[in-house]
Amino acid sequence: MARHPKAASGPADRPNRSAPSGSADMPRHPKAPSGPADRPNRSAPSASSGPADVAGPQPRRTRSGRAGGSGAAPFRADPARRAAYDVLRAVADRDSFANLLLPAMLAERGLTGRDAAFATELTYGTLRGRGTYDAILAACSDRDQLDPPVLDVLRLGAHQLLATRVGHHAAVATSVDLVKDVCGPRPSGFVNAVLRRVATRDLEAWMAIVAPDRAQDPSGYLAVRHSHPRWIVDAFRDALGDAADAELEDALAAGNVRPDVVLAVTPGPSGLPEPAQAAGRTQWSPYGLRLTGGDPAPLVATGQAAVQDEASQLAALALTRVEPSDAASQDRLWLDLCAGPGGKARLLAGLAAARGARLVASDLRPHRARKVLRALRRARPGRASDGPGRGSDGPGRGSDGPSRGSDSPGRASDNAVVVADGLRVPWPPGTFDRVLADVPCSGLGSLRRRPEARWRKTPEGVRNLAGLQRGLLNAALDSVRPGGVVAYVTCSPHVAETREVVTDVADRRGDVTILDAPAVLAEVPGLRSPEPRFAQFWPHRHGTDAIFLALLRRE
Ligand SMILES: C[S@@+](CC[C@H](N)C(=O)[O-])C[C@H]1O[C@@H](n2cnc3c(N)ncnc32)[C@H](O)[C@@H]1O
Repeated sequence: MARHPKAASGPADRPNRSAPSGSADMPRHPKAPSGPADRPNRSAPSASSGPADVAGPQPRRTRSGRAGGSGAAPFRADPARRAAYDVLRAVADRDSFANLLLPAMLAERGLTGRDAAFATELTYGTLRGRGTYDAILAACSDRDQLDPPVLDVLRLGAHQLLATRVGHHAAVATSVDLVKDVCGPRPSGFVNAVLRRVATRDLEAWMAIVAPDRAQDPSGYLAVRHSHPRWIVDAFRDALGDAADAELEDALAAGNVRPDVVLAVTPGPSGLPEPAQAAGRTQWSPYGLRLTGGDPAPLVATGQAAVQDEASQLAALALTRVEPSDAASQDRLWLDLCAGPGGKARLLAGLAAARGARLVASDLRPHRARKVLRALRRARPGRASDGPGRGSDGPGRGSDGPSRGSDSPGRASDNAVVVADGLRVPWPPGTFDRVLADVPCSGLGSLRRRPEARWRKTPEGVRNLAGLQRGLLNAALDSVRPGGVVAYVTCSPHVAETREVVTDVADRRGDVTILDAPAVLAEVPGLRSPEPRFAQFWPHRHGTDAIFLALLRRE
């Protein structure tokens, strides 16, 4: 049994582990007809950005639908709601990632068009709004413990009632159908009663009842209002510093808005390709395209572009803008110390090639290194295909996989991909002219992309990464030659994995100058973090992930 919703909104205590499952265990469902909403748009704002413009299928009038061949159990719920429910369960039970599982499930079940859009809105909206909905459901239920499947049905119902245009009757009736499908008839009366109570108020009215008093408990209020764990509210406040009073609420709200798809084109002589779909240039990155609709897959398949947030592009670009202090002597060999899956490596490889330099892209995990290899090959098919290899004759000599890290990266004939532990690097100190340390982090900067992530992360998880992050930054600084430049990057604004790591490592070493990173990206406003030499992107300021960047020169 799950805890009562009141207690169910804290972070999960499991680490991110499993990759999303394939389709083998996905139940199949017949397609249900979708219909218009039975109610016009209501004024209730969502936990994120207003009522989602989706109506969803109506409750079924007949109960004769069957799930497949003879003998299969009858399904009352429509396939879009059932798909959303199945993703929620997989997220809870198998640590699945919704953004990876849902598209596979939609394809598996043949859900397209409005059904697919509705299933997507339900899944992401419910996962994001969980903290808010659990507080409201707790006020509408007298039970301390709920079966997790029942709780997920209630969360889906609450989302429809409070943040979409689905009519009250449809939201309640389809939730009752769903719970009968997945749990049997027993909890159906309870689900009906709780959701009818939820439907008596809109979201604003519920906030006035269930959110803590803002003056007395600002973090508690914001946690419920914007559906974030309290510790993340506090972490964002710390990261914003003096700007928190004015911006914390916007920063949290931005985590509930689905971002546009942003692409990075491959740097090269041909420049930006003309986008075929609704797309525009990104504001600051010269390599960025922002898609407001359409499918990025065709452009990605050509190798001309890859999906990459604009701030990630700019962080990689920043590393290439700082001149090594004796640039006349050399700027030939660059390192990406934690390269998988290869987003920044792809960009850096293109920029390095334009200057006659080469990139060594390294990662601890072979499967991540293989992704880097594929990314580099797709981007530069002519040159990367004869690049890295497995075996003893050095990176750049083989053809079917990344090299093990016992070889000298300097022997690569072109860019190379290496499998190596960044804490025990196989190359001599001072080998590289520029090094990117895009270290493993909590990922608190990309919550808008991973709707379930905020409930899985923990303060302990952040603390546990601190030693690795310091070790990798030290390794990056050891790997760069005197005068060379290191970029330390995280997809998190948390001070324990950003400012504290960099200042701590720099203070202990004494051979490092922290450079003015915002000045290197001077075209981007609002980048200065409370420690002004560091750059901090924010979704609410820049429309990007909350990427942190520090630039350091080895003396
Ligand atoms: C934030 S991701 C890097 C993202 C990448 N730079 C990109 O833009 O696509 C961090 C990477 O560090 C790798 N990693 C973790 N521990 C490592 C270690 N000890 N040495 C090297 N790489 C490590 C992970 O496998 C992961 O691929």
